[in-house]
Parts: sequence; structure tokens; C-alpha cells
Amino acid sequence: FSGWLDRRNGTLCADGVALSQIAVEVGTPFYCYSASVLRQRYTALAAAVSPVGVSVCFAVKANSNLNVLAEFARLGCGMDIVSGGEMERALAAGTPAERIIFSGVGKTRDEIRRALEVGLHQINIESVAELETVAEIAHAMGLRAPVALRVNPDVDAGTHAKITTARKDSKFGIAIGEIPALYARASAMPGLEVLGLAVHIGSQIQSLAPFQRAWSALADLVRELRDAGLTVARLDLGGGLGIGSETEPAPDLEAYARTIAETVGDLGCALNIEPGRWLAAPAGVLVTEVTYLKESSGADFAVIDAAMNDLMRPALYDAHHAAVPIHAPRPGSGPAWRLVGPVCESSDDFGSYPNLGPLEPGDLLVFGSAGAYGATMSSTYNSRPLVPEVMVDDGRFRLIRKRAEMDLFLELEKPSDWVAAANG
Ligand code: LLP
Repeated sequence: FSGWLDRRNGTLCADGVALSQIAVEVGTPFYCYSASVLRQRYTALAAAVSPVGVSVCFAVKANSNLNVLAEFARLGCGMDIVSGGEMERALAAGTPAERIIFSGVGKTRDEIRRALEVGLHQINIESVAELETVAEIAHAMGLRAPVALRVNPDVDAGTHAKITTARKDSKFGIAIGEIPALYARASAMPGLEVLGLAVHIGSQIQSLAPFQRAWSALADLVRELRDAGLTVARLDLGGGLGIGSETEPAPDLEAYARTIAETVGDLGCALNIEPGRWLAAPAGVLVTEVTYLKESSGADFAVIDAAMNDLMRPALYDAHHAAVPIHAPRPGSGPAWRLVGPVCESSDDFGSYPNLGPLEPGDLLVFGSAGAYGATMSSTYNSRPLVPEVMVDDGRFRLIRKRAEMDLFLELEKPSDWVAAANG
């Protein structure tokens, strides 16, 4: 389980703060992140990849809380963003525009204009239509847009189907066979400064082999483009580095860095990676309270106050997040609990937990690996308020996002005046 949690006098503490104290203060459920673990993760990854000339951009979609982003930004980490909202968050957290890369298949004209205005480092282009739009907007603004073409290398990342992105039939990137002609065409367009290529093959990748295949294909493509007289100065190698699971270890950082060096290290390109999960997931937990225990048809349910709207990964990807009770272990083994939330969907089910011991209503439980794709994917389904986020650091804690209470939502739904149809 998360190494930054330890038991003092029987109760589980995060960076020296009893999670039960935070629960009294902010109520359950809540997300809790460790600032020191965020910093350690970035520092360890940067130390492994910087000797091979790679810079790190955090994939903001994994955890976009301003205070989390600020921890990374202060250390010099760049950001990978996929929307105008993420751009504003990255900038507000203190990331210099020249460390921000804009990915994503559906950038709007407004988002492209804003990216060019603030001077982002790079826009990763995902289609011919987007290339033409960026060129047109930049030209009209009297600028040259710094772009890279995102390649779909047709590599299966060997991960869950819903988080794989580089098979031939995926919506992401431009088919590798179409790149040479498009790269040449783009290089001649006045509104563009074509800097290189980008690739991202999927998420929670536990083996280095798919990275090796994708980056080797990228290296071959660079050589082909250079042979045709084109300039390729930058390569964005994407995110996707896995964090391991209860049954599988995470890929070794040194081996990951070596794979980069062996595939694209000799090309003289500026290199970057875009990890999200690896940097943030282990630094966060979700704390929840047991509401009821219920036995039904031989199954032992513990109904908890966190639900699929708060942590969507089990419902969406059958992900299993390890859990432990906050209280000291009780005598006896207890049943294999099925942890379920209160939302009216059968998929509001966190799965089977055989090692929690005997439980009682009011017990607090902690889900691990919740610092990435937890809060950012949450919703208000069943009119459940978004849960608060807390940061612990050096024996202290503070609220970094308030619970969004119902009055806010009721206020947003006050109707405007009726507007008469203009076509009548
Ligand atoms: N770069 C691009 C272009 C991406 O699309 C993504 C993730 C990343 C980087 C970061 O990937 P990471 O290092 O975090 O694996 N919601 C899913 C994960 C979806 C990832 C989407 N793209 C989950 O909870 O497992």
C-alpha cells in the first residue's frame, strides 16, 4: 500500500497526520495527496530520464488541482494539456507557457488562438483538418505556430482496451504512412513551424516492449523524413508509464530511460515525456466511511459513502484499487467484503476485498493509487457534491478544494429569461 501512510498508535497517518483527524475536519469522502510524494515522484523520474536528455511534462488530466500542479511547476516540470481549461490551470499554477504542450484531437479555434497568444511550447497536431486550422489561425495572427505531428504507429500497448490509443482504428494521431507527405506539406505552410513528431500509445503500460516498438518506429520515421531533406528537431514520447499493481511490478525507471536512449537517443532531437499516472497516482488516496453492512444472497456488502461518481475507474475499467481500514486491525478475519457505493447503478461496485477484517458502520477506509484520474474524472451524478481535496505536507494538512455544496449547483440552475425564436 502507499508507503507514505503509516500506523501511529494504531491509526493510519498520512505524512504524520491522522486521516481520522482530517475526516473530522472536512467530512468523508475526501481525496488526500502528499506534497512530498508528488515531489519525490517528479525528482526520481527526472533524475532517471534527464541523463538521456529528456524533459518531463505532467499530463494535467491525471490531476489538475492547482496546488498539485504548483508542486510540479516549482520543480521545473512542464505540463501536457488537452483543453483550454487545463491550459488556464497550468498557467495559473505558475508553469511558463514555454513548458506547456497542447495535445488532443478536438482543439477548438478559440483554444488554438489562446495557445498561440500565450506562446505555448508546442501544439501536437492530430489530423489534416486541425493542421490546416492551426496554420490559418497562426497566419492570420502573423505568427508561426510551433507544431509537432502526432503519429499513430499502430502499436498495441497491451493495456485495457479503453485506455489504449495507438492501434490503427484509434481516433488518435495520424497514420504513420501518411506522415511523410503531410510533414513535407506542413513544412512549406507559412503559418507553421514544424518542429517534430509526437506519439502516445496508451496508459498504465506495464511492459517496455510496446514503448520500444513505438519509439523505434518513430526513429525510423525521423530518418526517413531527414533523408527527404526535412528538419526534425523534437520528439514527444508520450505518457503511459504504468505504476504496477498487486500482481505486477511497475517497469523499472532505469530500464525505461535505457529504452528511450536505445531507440531515439542518437537522433539529436530534444526529447520529452508526458507521464500523468506515474507521477500522481501513488501520491493520493480516497478516504471513505462505511455507511451500512448488508448481507444478501450470501454476499457481504459494505456500503460506503464514496461512489463511482467520486472514483470512476472501477466502474469504467474494472480497475481494482487496494483498500485498508484506518483503524487498528481487529481480531478475526471477517468476510470478503464487496465494497459498493450508494449510486443507483450496478456498476457502482469497487469489487471484492477479502483482507479488511471485521468492519463496522462508521469505520473509515482508504483506497490507494487515487492521486491520478480520481478527482479529475469525478462527476455529480445522483446530485452528489464533488468531494474535497486535501494536501498533507510535513505533518500539516490543508484543504485544496472545498466540497462543492448543493447551493452552488442550485444557483447555477436558476433559469435565464426566455429568449424568443429568431426564425419566427
Ligand atoms: N499524453 C497523452 C496525449 C494522453 O492522452 C495521456 C493520457 C497521457 C499523456 C498521460 O498518460 P498516463 O501517463 O497518465 O498513463 N482515465 C484513464 C487513463 C486515460 C489516459 C488518457 N490519456 C485511467 O484512469 O486509467
